[in-house]
Amino acid sequence: MHLESLRLSNFKNYPSAQLEFSSEINCFLGKNGSGKTNLLDAIFYLSFTKSASQSQDQQCILHDESFFSVRGNFELEEKSRTVICGLQLGKKKLVKLDDKPYKRASEHVGKFPVVLIAPNDTDVIRGTSEDRRKFFDAIISQADSRYLQVLIQYNHALKQRNSLLKQFAERDFFDADQLQPFTEKLIELGSEIFKTRQKFLKAFQKLVNGHYANLSEESEVVDLQYESHFSDDIRAKFDESLKKDLILKRTNIGIHKDDFPFLMDHKPIRKFGSQGQQKSYLIALKLANFDYLHKKKGIKPLLLLDDIFDKLDDFRITKLVEMVASETFGQIFVTDARPERTLGIFEEINQDVKLFSIDQGQVQVLS
Ligand SMILES: Nc1ncnc2c1ncn2[C@@H]1O[C@H](COP(=O)(O)OP(=O)(O)OP(=O)(O)O)[C@@H](O)[C@H]1O
Ligand SMILES: [Mg+2]
Repeated sequence: MHLESLRLSNFKNYPSAQLEFSSEINCFLGKNGSGKTNLLDAIFYLSFTKSASQSQDQQCILHDESFFSVRGNFELEEKSRTVICGLQLGKKKLVKLDDKPYKRASEHVGKFPVVLIAPNDTDVIRGTSEDRRKFFDAIISQADSRYLQVLIQYNHALKQRNSLLKQFAERDFFDADQLQPFTEKLIELGSEIFKTRQKFLKAFQKLVNGHYANLSEESEVVDLQYESHFSDDIRAKFDESLKKDLILKRTNIGIHKDDFPFLMDHKPIRKFGSQGQQKSYLIALKLANFDYLHKKKGIKPLLLLDDIFDKLDDFRITKLVEMVASETFGQIFVTDARPERTLGIFEEINQDVKLFSIDQGQVQVLS
C-alpha cells in the first residue's frame, strides 16, 4: 500500500496544497512551525479519521475558515482508492471511501494502516493509564474492527451507568434493578475486551522486547505487563465497589481502568528510565506496532517519522537507517527541521527519496 497523492483545503496552516509522493521515502523539510507535522497529521487523519494532536476536529480547520477537507489517493492491492475526510462547522464529520460516505467514521479505521513515530511525544510512557489504553486500543482497533465496535459499546454503557449513579446521588435514592442491566453490559463487553487485550499483549510483548534489545544493544531488560480488574470474581468486585461508586458517582471497576506497566530491569520505566531510554522504548513500541499490523493485515502500514533523528544518538540512527535500507518498511514520510542532516542520512540508501520544502503552509518539490 502507498499514498500516491494528498490534497488539502483549509487544513491547519494549509489554505490549499497538492502533493504527489514517492512510493518509497518522502521528506518534509522546513523551519520550525512551517507545517511539516501538519502534513503527517493530514495523512494520519486519512487513516484514523482523526488528528493525532487535536482532540477536537474543528481545531484542524484553518483559523477563520468554516471547513476543512483532506483527500488522499491510495494504491492498495493494485487498486486505486480515494479517501476523503472533511468537516464543516456545525455539521457532522464526513468520511468517504471512493465517494461512498460511511455511516460511522469508525468503520474506516484499519483499512489504511499508519504508524506515527514522534519520539518527543512520550505521553504513552510518562502519562496516565488512559494514554496507554488509547495507544493499545488504537493498535488493536486497526487490526480488529470488531474490537473497536465493542469498545464503543462499552464506553456507551459506561456513560449510561455513570449518569445513573449521578441521578441516584442527586435524587438521594437507589434502585439496584435499574443499575443491574448496565453492570451486566459492562461485565459482558468488558470480558471480551479483556480477553482480546490479553491475547494481543502476549504477541506484542515479544515484538517490543526484540526491538528494544536491538536498539539498545541489550543494555537493559524490558518487560510489558497487563494489569486488569478482570478475573472470575468480577461480579463480586462490582458488588464490593458499589458503595464507592455511589459516593464518587462513577464506575470504579472495569476494563476502563486497565493499565499496561512498562518495566526496565523490573522497575517502572516512567519513574526510573532516562530520557533516552524512554524514547528508545517508545520507538520499540512503535516498531512493534508496525510489525503487528503488517502481520495481521498483510500490508505494510505507512510509516510517519516526526523529528525522529533529532532525538536519537548515532547508534540508534544507524539502526533505524539499517531498517529503512533493508526494506523492512513500505512507504515512509519523514520530517526534519535540519535538511542537511536528512539529506546526509538518505544519501547512503538505495531507495527513491522525494524531498519537499515546506514554508508557512506552502509546499515546493526539491527533487
Ligand atoms: N487550525 C489552524 N489554523 C491555522 N494555523 C494552524 C492551525 N493549527 C496549527 N496551525 C499552525 O501550524 C503551525 C505548526 O505547524 P507544524 O506543527 O506542522 O510545524 P512543524 O513544521 O512541524 O514545526 P517544528 O519543526 O517546530 O516541529 C503553527 O504555526 C500553528 O500555529
Ligand atoms: Mg513538527
